[in-house]
Amino acid sequence: LRIAMIASECVPFAKTGGLADVVGSLPKALRALGHDVIVIMPLYGMINRERYDIRPFLAPMGVWMGDTEEWCAVHTTTHEGVPVFFIEFDRYFARPGLYHDADYNDYLDNPRRFGFLTRAGLQLCIDMGFRPDIVHTHDWQTALAAAYLKIWHWNHPVLGGAASVLTIHNIAYQGVYDASHYPYLGLQWSNFTPDKFEDHGRINFLKGGIQYSDMLNTVSPTYANETRTPEGGHGLAMYLNDRGSAYRGILNGVDYTQWNPETDPLIPARYSAGNLAGKAICKRELQLRMGLDPNPNIPIVGVVSRLAHQKGLDLLAGAIEGLVQNALVQFAILGAGDKGLEGYYSLLPVRFPGRVGSFIGYDNQLSHWIEAGSDFFAMPSRYEPCGLNQMYSLRYGTLPIVRATGGLEDTVQQYDEHTGAGTGFKFYEPSVHAVYYTIGWAISTYFDRPHHMQQMIQAAMAQDFSWERSAKEYVQLYREAIARKRGM
Ligand code: ADP
Ligand code: GLC
Repeated sequence: LRIAMIASECVPFAKTGGLADVVGSLPKALRALGHDVIVIMPLYGMINRERYDIRPFLAPMGVWMGDTEEWCAVHTTTHEGVPVFFIEFDRYFARPGLYHDADYNDYLDNPRRFGFLTRAGLQLCIDMGFRPDIVHTHDWQTALAAAYLKIWHWNHPVLGGAASVLTIHNIAYQGVYDASHYPYLGLQWSNFTPDKFEDHGRINFLKGGIQYSDMLNTVSPTYANETRTPEGGHGLAMYLNDRGSAYRGILNGVDYTQWNPETDPLIPARYSAGNLAGKAICKRELQLRMGLDPNPNIPIVGVVSRLAHQKGLDLLAGAIEGLVQNALVQFAILGAGDKGLEGYYSLLPVRFPGRVGSFIGYDNQLSHWIEAGSDFFAMPSRYEPCGLNQMYSLRYGTLPIVRATGGLEDTVQQYDEHTGAGTGFKFYEPSVHAVYYTIGWAISTYFDRPHHMQQMIQAAMAQDFSWERSAKEYVQLYREAIARKRGM
């Protein structure tokens, strides 16, 4: 199959979250299965062109937005065998952030920026004669591709055969904007109706994508079910339910070339399930780096997260002081986002020196250190479409403590106190109490049942969430999209 993937972020070029990991890995896995995949993304201001050997490819390229023709340029590189194309349009993309400025204020022209990216991606296929069987888009940012294909390109010699697939990584972000942006998007007022793009008088990008895509999915089976309910669907449940079997969950994979303690060049020492000596070194180095007492016999609970409501770190905030006072435990926390939570977590090391270490910011290397050096990894998410860190933790022998929601439910097996089976600790209620007692449960298991800890670490490290299986499920999804497109 020929697949054009259009996305707003992709590892290693630009990342704010797991979406970038997925767009960075899935194409490689599809290529390994023999498919021809290209990735199209913006040339953001902070992308380092020299480092990735990004070179001019095509200029100028005209993209019609409403009745304005925008002129941009295209650059390219090949990353681990996958051709990546970058849309250069400084008016929209030469900024420090992807979606917002340093103070987390969303750029006001985001609907125009990503509507433009989406159309430019399709235009690039036309201009270079890449006839995709599939246009695969991700989240609200590029969801409109499906609509453009159906409204404008259904008969086009290059794009007319392309079926569309939309992956929803987080249904809470729908791209809802003032209708004044609608003409620029070029979608025709006759389509500004509640069954398509209109949402209480505003435009809803994701809703349009849900309605127009040939097939769609989200990133775990449990989250697919949750989004079909009024509470989980954030207003779109009925539209997803209308799509019936065209919507399903496909669990994300892990890029084990990046996340594997046996080969990880970023961590202080390598280790494997058969020889965990290196993990003890990683723990000690983490303690020194984060200002924690270098005691090998105190369990460390790690956190690496966006500080957003979704992630439930306000729940952890309510539990952490009691835990530090009542139990022998340390915390190693890396995160950025909500200003209130940033302030709270940045002060904890001052209040609990040697017991809590925190770093506010984004630091890929430190995230690897926390995965490797911690004993437990906490994800008290209110909802979690898939979650990648719990899967990384499993491979690093760092037992996840998670709320049983979305992909966390699908990837972590509950500890059984009788047999020692399981790979982590799960709780159900999104409350401070549940976080407190479940972390407490993990700590007491660490001290009272070390044999069960060892058994779980072995079980966790043996889990395999490699991309190959997920990529095969995507290929199946693509084939069904093509069949639907052809009316079969
Ligand atoms: P989400 O996409 O909702 O943020 P995921 O678990 O799918 O959650 O993916 C988060 C990704 O971002 C992981 O690769 C994680 O390591 C990384 N990450 C999140 N916050 C930080 C941070 N402050 N520093 C470094 N990496 C981070
Ligand atoms: C989103 C979700 C996260 C998921 C990631 C990649 O950011 O919040 O759970 O793992 O997308 O699909």
